[in-house]
Amino acid sequence: MERNFYLIVTAAGSGTRMGADKPKQFLELGGKAILQLTIERFIEALPDVKVVTVLPKDYIPLWKRYCLERSFTYPQVLVAGGITRFHSVKNALARVPDGAYVAVHDGVRPLLSVGMIRRMAERMTACRALVPVMPSTDTLKPLRPDWDGRLQWIEGRSLNRVEVYNAQTPQIFFSEDLRGAYQQAFNTSFTDDASVARQAGIPITWCEGERLNIKITTPEDLKLAQAILSLG
Ligand code: C5P
Repeated sequence: MERNFYLIVTAAGSGTRMGADKPKQFLELGGKAILQLTIERFIEALPDVKVVTVLPKDYIPLWKRYCLERSFTYPQVLVAGGITRFHSVKNALARVPDGAYVAVHDGVRPLLSVGMIRRMAERMTACRALVPVMPSTDTLKPLRPDWDGRLQWIEGRSLNRVEVYNAQTPQIFFSEDLRGAYQQAFNTSFTDDASVARQAGIPITWCEGERLNIKITTPEDLKLAQAILSLG
């Protein structure tokens, strides 16, 4: 069976850490909204990809207008997000049929390469779920803020950096697997799709991510992304 390829782009966050007047996915990089850049990478890599974009409910009219004004007319199913990323993905999965591949990707990660998307899509013929990770290069400290905001060592906890990896997106699954996994009750440890899938017993294959596939979260990330894009 040849599976169609669906992309769920999660872009329903409010982006409070950026401190801008609109969520970061709508800020522009080199004259284009970050979200448009992100979606365009997938269209370039997989020209038949079916796109489901999850947005904050109030921004759906704005995004429709933006796309029309920019003649960005690639078909997108627009879905209103939920209270957390988990709820946003769950809403989007309702628009993806069984029997497809579904890649879930953060709308604020526009810098991944077309090659990475293609390589991952090809590997899905040989695995059930594929998740990109990067090794930690910094030394890791188990700390948490106390009531006064001062960082305190968490006694009895140690983190070995060779055993801790940073998870990225896109994370790719069989759509029926991921839909099944998202039937679980929400749990605060569900911060990406791999955590939901793993809890549901789906075997995950880990692959290498890309150092430049950053999640644009803070004003510094935005500057970094500008610099990376300007290097071509
Ligand atoms: O919260 P975090 O920064 O990890 O968000 C990762 C991605 O999930 C972002 O692209 C954000 O827009 C999206 N998100 C969402 N719905 C939420 C919260 C975050 O689609 N309720």
